[in-house]
Order: sequence, then structure tokens, then C-alpha cells
Amino acid sequence: MLSHEQEALIDATAPVVAEHLNAITSRFYPLMFERYPEVKVLFNEVHQQNGSQPRALAGAVLAYVQLRGNPAKARAALDIVVSKHVSLNILPEHYPIVGECLMAAIGEVLGDALTPEIADAWGALYNELAALLIDLEDQRYREFESRPGGWRGARRFKIARTHQESSVIRSFVFEPEDGGPVAAHEPGQYIGVRVMIDGEPVYRHYSLSDLPNGRSYRISIKREEQGRVSRHFHDVLAVGDTLELLPPAGDLTLIEGSEPLLLASGGVGQTPLLPIARQALLDGRRVVYLHAAIDRDHHAFGDDVKALKRDYPEQLTVVNVLERGEGVEHIGRIDRDLLARYLPGPRARCYFVGPQGFMAAVDTALAGLGIDDSHRHFEHFGPARPLVAA
Ligand SMILES: Cc1cc2nc3c(=O)[nH]c(=O)nc-3n(C[C@H](O)[C@H](O)[C@H](O)COP(=O)(O)OP(=O)(O)OC[C@H]3O[C@@H](n4cnc5c(N)ncnc54)[C@H](O)[C@@H]3O)c2cc1C
Ligand code: HEM
Repeated sequence: MLSHEQEALIDATAPVVAEHLNAITSRFYPLMFERYPEVKVLFNEVHQQNGSQPRALAGAVLAYVQLRGNPAKARAALDIVVSKHVSLNILPEHYPIVGECLMAAIGEVLGDALTPEIADAWGALYNELAALLIDLEDQRYREFESRPGGWRGARRFKIARTHQESSVIRSFVFEPEDGGPVAAHEPGQYIGVRVMIDGEPVYRHYSLSDLPNGRSYRISIKREEQGRVSRHFHDVLAVGDTLELLPPAGDLTLIEGSEPLLLASGGVGQTPLLPIARQALLDGRRVVYLHAAIDRDHHAFGDDVKALKRDYPEQLTVVNVLERGEGVEHIGRIDRDLLARYLPGPRARCYFVGPQGFMAAVDTALAGLGIDDSHRHFEHFGPARPLVAA
């Protein structure tokens, strides 16, 4: 519990901390990885190099300064963080490590300006936020463990099947090694994957690209030219190999209701939208499914979507978009005109996932077409950041 004096000190010094945020976060991670090398494996090196993860963490701490007076809003704002943490099995014992290194980084950057009173106030704020995250994460761990087929921590799975979906995307179906059932996820959620590469564990997130079935999970991975984990999946792992999965999580899920849906994806961004489409169709909702790929070779899940169209000829509208090629509904890009042509009404719920520039363009176009913020849903395949047009 922060004292009134500490609250006043936080408010007075937050602008200084914000001003030095880049310096603090640039110092924080190297310091933590030096002092506690065991936590380094949890973090994606590329997110460190491009600064997206340091910015996300620092942004969340500062956002909490504003939100802490409104606990319901604070909890809602932390959902993305909690999901990421849960799918990486972040535990209470990790929090003092981050707290110690964050305070040390603030101390190094602010120097004498950080009096013992100010340091205590920020330490208390961190502890309050950490306690909130630990509590929210514990609730999620318990809830998932209590589901039929649920578990806690890492569970070993084997690759039961693979399927090449396009020249660069391959699906992997995992079944648990223990032969037991697997808990249902919500369509649209992702799962934490832990693979051993060169004797070291590496963590990544992948959207579950099919509906829950109680026996297995499917993910679909795009091979990145220089990607560490995606190349390992494509080039090294095969049917029969094993890896560990952490609990599914994620907030890009189907919001119940009767509104029609517009689902727009670019490239591998299709993975969370396929199960959302299936679920919505099962629920009797109308779905417009727009998918953009560079060309036919890169176009994935064509057969799955065709089968859906056969099953739901009236409810589903499919619009395939290729940047180059022929024989599809549209050649070009998913732009404002195309969205305007297919938007199923002003109250449509719109979900869109793809590269940052794609999501920024779709978001701007949908806002321009009158779709309210509350009906525009998207997810970053990396740390969350503002959508800024490319
Ligand atoms: C919620 C969520 C859901 C996701 N769902 C999916 C999904 O369904 N399918 C999917 O494929 N991915 C998905 N991702 C992304 C996935 O987690 C990985 O980030 C992705 O597979 C790349 O990981 P990697 O280890 O192969 O690449 P990394 O090694 O992490 O590299 C990331 C990028 O940097 C580039 N890069 C790395 N090193 C270099 C270098 N030295 N020079 C130049 N470029 C370099 C790589 O080519 C790659 O494009 C999701 C991510 C999140 C957060
Ligand atoms: C108060 C404390 C913490 C805050 C505010 C915080 C905040 C965040 C935020 C904002 C993200 C990015 C979410 C997104 O993807 O958009 C994140 C991801 C992550 N956090 Fe935390 N976090 C905290 C504590 C911890 C702790 C204790 C650990 C474990 C050592 C940890 C490990 C991670 C990892 C591994 C990721 C994913 C990183 C990646 O993508 O490379 N966090 N956290």
C-alpha cells in the first residue's frame, strides 16, 4: 500500500522517469541478463534488439501510474501482459528479479536525483503492480489447470502430423505424450511453445489455428528467412519429435453476440482468424472472410476456406486477395474501397491480423468507414505497440 507521500512523489517524478524511459529500459535488460542469466532464455532476442519489448514493459509501468486509481480499468489494461506471461509460465519468484533490476537501472540513470524516498516510492509502486500481476496470473493458471485436460507449467507433446499450407506456412498438430485429453482453448487464442535449440530452451507464441477438439492442438508457422524458431520447425522438427507447450492464452477471441463479422488477414495473420470464423459460423453468424497474400504460392488454407464455404454457402462470403496473379476475387490489396464494398453493416465486428503496416491501414480504413473502436479487434505477432501507418 502506497502512503499519500509516496503517491505524491510518484506523481511528481513520473514525468522525469518518462523522459528517461529509453535510457532506463536500455540499461534494465542487460543488467538483468547479467545478474540473472537464467531468465534471459524467456525473452525473444529480436524483441530486445528492436526495442519493442523494453518499450512495452516500461510503457506498462508508466500506464499503471495513471490507471492505479481505477482497479477495474487497470486489470483490463493488464490482460495482454497477463496472457503473455501465462503462456510463458512467468512465476511469482521472477518478480523480485525484475523489481531489483528495474530499480537498479532507474538508480543508474537518475543518479543523485533518485533520493531514498523517491526510490522507496517507485519500489512500492512496482511491488503493488507485481502483486496485481501475480494474482491475475495465478487465477489464470488455476483456472486452466482445473479444466478437463488442463495442466500447469510445461507439458510435453509430440508432433503427430504436419501439413504444408503454402510455400512458407506449415501446420503442426501436437498430441500430448501422456496420451491424456487436452483442454479447450478459445478460438483466436495462442499457445506458448518451448523448444530446445542448440541445447538451450527457446520460447515463442503461436496462434492455435483450429477449433478445440479435446485431443490435439494445431499451430501453423511461417518460415522466416532468418528466424530461429520458425526455421527449426520447418527445417529440423518432424513427426514424432517432442516439445513442450505452455497454457493457451490471448484476448483476441470471438465476442458473443449476433453482429456479423468482417475478418481480414494478411499472410500468416490468418491463423487466429480461421478458428474465429469457424466458431462464428457454428454460432449462426454471418462472416465476411478477406484474406490477402502476395501470390498463389503464398496463399495458405485455401482448401480449408473452400470447405467452409461449401458448409456455409449463405452465411460466409470469401474474398481472396492476391497482390499479383489471377483467378481470385480481387487483385491488389485490402484497402478502404474493398472494405467498404464488403463491410457487413455499420455494427459489424471487425477482426484483423497481419503485418504492422497492414493492420494500421485496415484500422484507419475501418475507422473512416465508421466502425467504432470497440468493434475493431487486432493482435500483434510480437509485443503490443501503437498502430502507426507504415
Ligand atoms: C500472439 C502471437 C501469435 C503468433 N502467431 C503466429 C502464428 O500463428 N504463426 C506464425 O508463423 N507466427 C506467429 N507468431 C510469431 C512467432 O511467435 C515468432 O515471432 C515467429 O515465428 C518468428 O520467430 P523466429 O524465432 O523464427 O524468428 P526470430 O529469430 O525471432 O526473428 C524474428 C524476425 O527477425 C528476423 N531476423 C532475425 N535475425 C535476423 C538477422 N540477423 N538479420 C535479419 N533479420 C533477422 C527474422 O527473419 C524474423 O523475421 C505469433 C506471435 C505472437 C506474439
Ligand atoms: C511489474 C512487472 C512486469 C510488467 C509491468 C511487465 C510487462 C510486460 C509487457 C507490457 C509485456 C509485453 C506484452 C505484449 O506482448 O504486448 C511483457 C512481456 C513479457 N514479460 Fe513481462 N512484465 C513484468 C514482469 C515480468 C517478469 C517478472 C518476467 C520474468 C522474468 C517477465 C517476462 C516477460 C517475457 C518473457 C515477456 C515476453 C517477451 C518477448 O516477447 O520477448 N515479465 N511484460
